[in-house]
Amino acid sequence: MKQLLQKLTETFSPSGYEAAIREVIRAEVEPLADEIRVDALGNLIVRKGPSTGSEQAKKIMVAAHMDEIGLIASHIDENGFIRFTTIGGVYPQMLMGARVRFYNGIPGILYTEPLDAPTDTPSIEKMFIDVGAKSRADCPIKIGEVAAFERPFLDLGDRLVAKSMDDRIGCLVAIEALRALKSTPNEVYFVFTTQEEVGTRGAETSAFGLDPDLGFSLDVTGWGDTPGRKHFDIALGKGPAIKIKDGGMLSDPRIIQWMVKTAEANGIPYQREVLLGGTTDARAMQLVRAGVPVGCISIPCRYVHSPSEMVDYNDVQNAVKLTVALLENSVEL
Ligand code: CO
Ligand code: ZN
Repeated sequence: MKQLLQKLTETFSPSGYEAAIREVIRAEVEPLADEIRVDALGNLIVRKGPSTGSEQAKKIMVAAHMDEIGLIASHIDENGFIRFTTIGGVYPQMLMGARVRFYNGIPGILYTEPLDAPTDTPSIEKMFIDVGAKSRADCPIKIGEVAAFERPFLDLGDRLVAKSMDDRIGCLVAIEALRALKSTPNEVYFVFTTQEEVGTRGAETSAFGLDPDLGFSLDVTGWGDTPGRKHFDIALGKGPAIKIKDGGMLSDPRIIQWMVKTAEANGIPYQREVLLGGTTDARAMQLVRAGVPVGCISIPCRYVHSPSEMVDYNDVQNAVKLTVALLENSVEL
């Protein structure tokens, strides 16, 4: 599982450019699927279970996003320095001295124009990418080419660190749940979505296409267990979090209850999550068509949207267990 996580997190696929990560995931899930397809926005849709449900077979959508935050070249000056804008929530304080890799494989480093004080945080407008080019003609990057953080996977035992843990860890949980789910009376659709980081766009179209009876997302949440963090009771290693609220969604109380009951019946540790900002694919799923009851299983993650996002391996394994337990029996909300 760790090896697969390394492969998933070391793949470069910012929003809108999910082809590379989709191929990695497809190779894993194709042998496990009853049906597999890719829709117009690039979502990878994997069905497990019966295709035409009986009365009690519910159509369940489980979403994990494949894309990651990134950068996109917007201007190349005569000396070959690349100006850029962001794809998703990229913060300048994460970028000084960072390394990125363009989708075409070219690596680059980030720096800034001189600042008024060396302790200032540069704005994105002041920053540039240096790919070693000496002139515009010499620069191997064209305007519109995308890049993502370059940072190797790190195994610290229980704690695992990587760029794009958001949300390759959700993808891993979905893949492993699919592997462990031997049979299900439900019509389950695991959807590996595109463009979450720019506004849950892939989830919106795939949920519309599938028209599920209920669903949940698998994504990271924040953390409250490092120095100076207050009033957020999520810690690494205490179990996956059952989302009650985030910045964009109130989970359906019936879904919360289903998740809590299932975790308790199976002896799976869990945490209760009220996240102040941010949201997940579940928001888009909830608001599609005439509305869908949804929730979210969150994997606690430190340093979200930095090049070194950290999760706890036990939480990951328990998130897989909870996902399987939710899907293996028929659901009555
Ligand atoms: Co994110
Ligand atoms: Zn995410």
